[in-house]
This record gives sequence, C-alpha cells and structure tokens, in this order.
Amino acid sequence: MSVVTMKKMLSSALKGKYLVPAFNVFNTETLIAVLEGASELHSPVIVQLSMGGRQYVRNPIKFLAYMKSMAMDYDIPVAFNHDHCPTPSAAIEAMKMGFSGVMFDGSPLSFNENIKETERVVKAAGDYDVAVEAELGRIPGFEDLVFSGHAEYTDPEAALKFVLETNCTSLAISAGTSHGGVMAEDYLPFSFEVLKSIHEKLPSFPLVLHGAASLPPDLIDRVNKLGGTVPYMRNCAESDIAKCGELGICKANMDVDNFLCFTEGVRRNLLEHSDLYDPRKYLEDGEKGFKQEVMHKIANVSHTVSKAWSEKGK
Ligand code: G3H
Ligand code: ZN
Repeated sequence: MSVVTMKKMLSSALKGKYLVPAFNVFNTETLIAVLEGASELHSPVIVQLSMGGRQYVRNPIKFLAYMKSMAMDYDIPVAFNHDHCPTPSAAIEAMKMGFSGVMFDGSPLSFNENIKETERVVKAAGDYDVAVEAELGRIPGFEDLVFSGHAEYTDPEAALKFVLETNCTSLAISAGTSHGGVMAEDYLPFSFEVLKSIHEKLPSFPLVLHGAASLPPDLIDRVNKLGGTVPYMRNCAESDIAKCGELGICKANMDVDNFLCFTEGVRRNLLEHSDLYDPRKYLEDGEKGFKQEVMHKIANVSHTVSKAWSEKGK
C-alpha cells in the first residue's frame, strides 16, 4: 500500500501536529531518492511536480502514472501534489492528470481576484475530489516559473476570510520564507508571531510553507569547492522550520537544498573520475546526494521518522 490522497495526508498531519515534507521531483533519480529516503525512515512524504517539471518530463500524465506505480513498492504513505499552478486552467489540467492535490497560486492577484479564482479551482476540484492548496501573501524569490520581488506576510484576518470564502483545503502562507533564498548576510527571520496568529484564527486547518529549504552556506561552499559558482543566498533556518509543525503547518515545500546535494554528487563524481562517460554512474551520485538530504530533512526538520502508517488491510 502507499499512495494516499492529499486530503488524507493533510488530515493525518493536522491530527498528529507534524509537517509532511514535500519534494519536487522531475526524473527517476529524484523520485527514487525521495521514495527510498522516506521509506528508510518510515516517513510519510509528498511528491510534487511543478510546472517546469511538467515540461521537463514531457508527458506528465504518464510520468504521474509511473510515479504512482513506483510508490506502490514502498510501504509508506505517499501523496502526489501538483505545485504552483499559475492559472485555474493549469490547476484543472493537473486534476485531470490524476494528482490528488493541486496548488493554485493566486498570490500575485489582488485579494478579491485571488478569492474569485481560487473559488473557481475549488469548485472544479469537487468533481475530482482533489485537495486545493491556495496561497495568500507574497513569498519573495524565484522558484521554477514563479517569481516575486517582495515579501508580504499573510494577514491573519485576511487568511480567515479567504479560507471561509474559498473553502480551499489548505493555505500556503508567507511568514518569512523565500523561494530559493534571497541575498542576505544571515538566515532570514521567521515570524512565529504571524504564524501563531494565523493558526489561532484557523486552529484546525492545514497551513503550508513554501520555500522551506535553508540554503546553509556550508552546503553552497561544498558545491562551489567542486567548481560551482552558486551565489550565497539565504533562507530561514531549519531549526525555525522544524518548530512549525506544532503551529498548524502540515506541509513544507523544500527543494533547493536537495538540488544542491544532487549537484554536489554529480560534480564530485565527474571531478574524481574524469574518464567517466556513463551517465548512470554520475547521476547515481546525484541521486545519493538528493536521498541523503531528503533523509536529513525528515530527521531534522519534519521530524516524521516512523510516522508512516500502513493502510494494509484497511
Ligand atoms: O514550491 C516549491 C517550494 O516552495 C520550493 O522552495 O526550494 O526554496 O524550498 P525552496
Ligand atoms: Zn513554492
């Protein structure tokens, strides 16, 4: 058993007061890294495909079918969510593909426009019994095809009104994290005050964090010592993200750190084996790096080791 719906995944996280790590994947290596990493730690996990991932895999319907069939080999709860759909039509396409959760990102719109468009997505989702993750507030930074130049923390009162009017399943909020990090001297401050006020307004409602990767400088150092020129961007500290599960955050998207670890594995392998030309050999090291980071996040950020449940026989 293993594929569960996003609604089930979120309700279990809400009840258990923990956040489920959500990882974007885009090929066999990253998918296996997530499934193996989560399985070895008996952790629930959310696997995502972004709009860029949709393009990269060429046929997202077949890739999702492949992901679901691979997930059946691991006895942990795995849910599949489509990340950052920029329009209602893209979100509805994702529902038709078979994702049990879609994120409609209406955050660039005005408050009322965001409500109107999110309502459209939620209404359509009813036909597919799909969970809709909406977003309110602005998260700075660049991730996949999403860019925002400034942060706008989510207003707790507005969050309550938004959820009541749209009936969305979960809400991505802005409280300090950034997509892909921003230029800064130190870790970004996370506003527990904002999160606590939103959680107080919506005590039994799943909240979501985007941009939950931390971009630790030593990780960027490791990649750059292998020939990389990755800029030293900063995000919120893992220790801050780790505290959010108790405050209503049920899902946290974290990608960049895993991408950096994949890149480190490939760079190191190619540097140490300049005679190598079999892609399986260096991609394997990328997969290993990605998997190690997935396990690191599960053990140190989501704290979901052994929280996997089995639906066998249910
Ligand atoms: O939607 C994806 C996440 O928000 C990724 O952000 O890579 O900065 O953690 P991150
Ligand atoms: Zn995001």
